[in-house]
Amino acid sequence: MLSNLTPQAPDKILMLIEEFKADTRQGKIDLGVGVYKDPQGVTPVMRAVKAAEQRIWEAQTTKAYTGLAGEPEYRAAMARMVLADVPGDRLASVASVGGTGAIRQALELARMANPGLTVHVSDPTWPNHLSIMKFMGLPFLEYRYFDNATRGVDFEGMKADIARAGKGDVVLLHGCCHNPTGANLTPGQWQEIVAMLDKSGAVPLIDLAYQGFGDGLDADAEATRLVARSLPEVLIAASCSKNFGIYRERTGILMALAGTTAARDLSQGAMAYLNRQNFSFPPDHGARIVSTILTDDALRADWQAELEDVRNTMLGLRDQLAAELRSLSGSDRFDFIAHHRGMFSRLGATPEQVQALKSDAAIYMVGDSRLNIAGLNRDTVPVLARAIIDAGI
Ligand code: LMR
Repeated sequence: MLSNLTPQAPDKILMLIEEFKADTRQGKIDLGVGVYKDPQGVTPVMRAVKAAEQRIWEAQTTKAYTGLAGEPEYRAAMARMVLADVPGDRLASVASVGGTGAIRQALELARMANPGLTVHVSDPTWPNHLSIMKFMGLPFLEYRYFDNATRGVDFEGMKADIARAGKGDVVLLHGCCHNPTGANLTPGQWQEIVAMLDKSGAVPLIDLAYQGFGDGLDADAEATRLVARSLPEVLIAASCSKNFGIYRERTGILMALAGTTAARDLSQGAMAYLNRQNFSFPPDHGARIVSTILTDDALRADWQAELEDVRNTMLGLRDQLAAELRSLSGSDRFDFIAHHRGMFSRLGATPEQVQALKSDAAIYMVGDSRLNIAGLNRDTVPVLARAIIDAGI
């Protein structure tokens, strides 16, 4: 039986991790997978996370199962962090296996509710969005998003394509810090998208994987909050991997806002059922870390301060890289790097140029020229800038 399997194409992002490890050149630079690294190149355990883990270790008396939906304290704390004003009469939620698990469950839920749906997804998007939909056999259409000339959002193209979404379709939107481009909608553009969805009855699914990495914890949730208070039905997949730095703990949440309390109850039941079918109980350790931090004033303040440091480090690197490139190129054509937000920017280089950066300068980025800003430090920014110019980008 097993010999009938066919080889799977490796994930383009994860493949880079192995390639980078195998490269023996001195001074190699990893701008591939979206993991934060501090100026010493370390992905640290955040202070508040360590403190929360210690408290959990000291106080925890059992490792017996939690509920299928995860711990209520975690779900409530996350709903407050994401939505601020939580519409309890409309909100269903389940803890999930990371943000990816929440995306997968959201798509499963949408298909249960509307088997004929089409998912509308940005071009480009996180490659795993497409991979999951292909694996599930879900029909999807891509909407224009990135303008390669300006390295900003092609908003007219986006609107024209989202106009194809009908009632009960799902429109997948990145709540902040668009992955892979770094280009984001303005508040006014979000209003326009909301008005379109309101008219068509298409349901937004917001992927919120980088809250706190763009303009701040609350600012990054503004678009999600606008969507949540404006539309009757909204799906939100949020991740704690990046903002709490607990990547391997697989901590996420799926929230569904329903139009009625009865639909909320149906959603809650269906989401718990989906957890049971896919993995039974969601992982607890990361969720417990998050709820311990979010419900304790001192831990929360310390976590937020460290998250702000992380965010400001990335903004500083963006400014430094844009300035280096301005001086080396004698033009402002790389200024978009300073305007983008989040971990990533799409450089707009060809696959051949990306390959040249790898072979000539040992600089690794995703083939579509997405670079992870957090993989840089003040010393490697000039090296990257020089290599970009040398590669003719
Ligand atoms: C990324 O986009 O690099 C991250 O979300 C990590 C991943 O799982 O792909």
